[in-house]
Amino acid sequence: MADTANLEIGDQKYSLNLIKGTEQELAVDISKLRKESRVITFDDGYGNTGSCESEITFIDGDKGILRYRGYDIAELAEKSNFLESAYLLLNGNLPSGGELDGFRQRVAGYCDLPAEVLTSIRSQPAGAHPMAVLSSGLQALGGSYPQYGTNDRKKDLESFDESSALIISAVRSLAAAIYKNSLGEDLSSSDPGRTYCENFLSMMFDKPGESTPVPSAVESALDLIFLLHADHEQNCSTSTCRMIASGGANPFASLAGGVSALWGPLHGGANMAVIKMLDEIHESGDDGSRFVESAKQGKSRLMGFGHRVYRNYDPRAKILKNACDQALDALGVSSPILQIARRLEEVALEDPYFIQRKLYPNVDFYSGIILQALGFPTNMFTVLFAIGRTPGWLSHWKEIAENGKKIHRPRQIYQGETLRPYLPVEDR
Ligand code: CMC
Repeated sequence: MADTANLEIGDQKYSLNLIKGTEQELAVDISKLRKESRVITFDDGYGNTGSCESEITFIDGDKGILRYRGYDIAELAEKSNFLESAYLLLNGNLPSGGELDGFRQRVAGYCDLPAEVLTSIRSQPAGAHPMAVLSSGLQALGGSYPQYGTNDRKKDLESFDESSALIISAVRSLAAAIYKNSLGEDLSSSDPGRTYCENFLSMMFDKPGESTPVPSAVESALDLIFLLHADHEQNCSTSTCRMIASGGANPFASLAGGVSALWGPLHGGANMAVIKMLDEIHESGDDGSRFVESAKQGKSRLMGFGHRVYRNYDPRAKILKNACDQALDALGVSSPILQIARRLEEVALEDPYFIQRKLYPNVDFYSGIILQALGFPTNMFTVLFAIGRTPGWLSHWKEIAENGKKIHRPRQIYQGETLRPYLPVEDR
């Protein structure tokens, strides 16, 4: 295989290096092209642009493969758990028993929120969107731990073991506090002796002073959802975190930006949009076929379908589809919208429109149905996605802080007005 690519622009020839990834992916290195030719590359939406070299997560979208640090997602889903996979993402290798215990204890030690962070959440109106409050809550958390968020890379890296455990722990306490605030209730006290998900579920749903046992089916379904969302390489919110981190900002600020990016309905907000869509289809008496027709005509979008990278079944959706049946059975819950989701999938996967465009269910198609069965309100779904994605965002922050040399700063093709004279207001 050649290690250079040749480019001709007019009568000029340029030799460009090829970069090879460990999974044999090839990229043309154009980083010096502009200096040599004055020409830049153009790639609207970055669909064909590698923004970095990364060692964290591998996706082969054509084959439907997803691996964290080399481990297949299906194997991790079966054998690992959220906190162990978080450790793996952050540190590069699976922990020993002692390392895992140490990490768990460190995370458990940070589950209580500082009083001023709670006050900042309570100062928000009950109707404020949970994702907005989560983003500002992360910044408030950074304000309470200034020693972990100095914007001095060396210092922030030195304290990263603490700050990453703090953020992984506190993001779920923030989520519970945000939910309680929306109900006008106080946050139940945390119990560091319980598992990550048990503690979270208790903070979310117990009244202050209560400590209801959490059924193991509920805990394991939520843990699985967090694990499956833990990283997904250079998606919109992770790229946002990396972009912010590239300027030298601390982990709290970088993740607050990631949360904002995740909120949109084409990204993490799709899990809310799927339930809204399924409810509307259910209420209209459609079995899904009419909705698929309107999506084909461009009048609506089949939420939870399609992905920029996967041109095959999203491996996370495959796992969640099975988990959905098991969780609903274990909880004794029947969901009319699950039948609609299955029918929609069946219709869409047989339809030439979806086949030609390689549109398959993505992670959001079934996750919302499980979250609904677990008792979470729809407007908290994207916050739950954010809890799951937190270890991934942090791992990318660390990768940039350790290796990133340049601030991220794309160029553009300017298509606006050329130079024109300023006219005084009376002459316009
Ligand atoms: N329903 C109907 N048509 C679709 C859909 C859909 N969900 N997704 C893509 N298409 C069509 C689109 O109209 C276009 O058709 P044409 O070639 O005739 O113009 C073609 O497929 C390519 O679509 P695109 O929008 O150019 O593809 P993209 O790679 O830019 O967008 C996507 C990817 C995920 C934003 C898009 O598929 C989508 O909007 N899906 C629904 C929202 C969703 O479920 N988002 C969650 C993504 S997974 C979680 C995460 O990682 O964030």
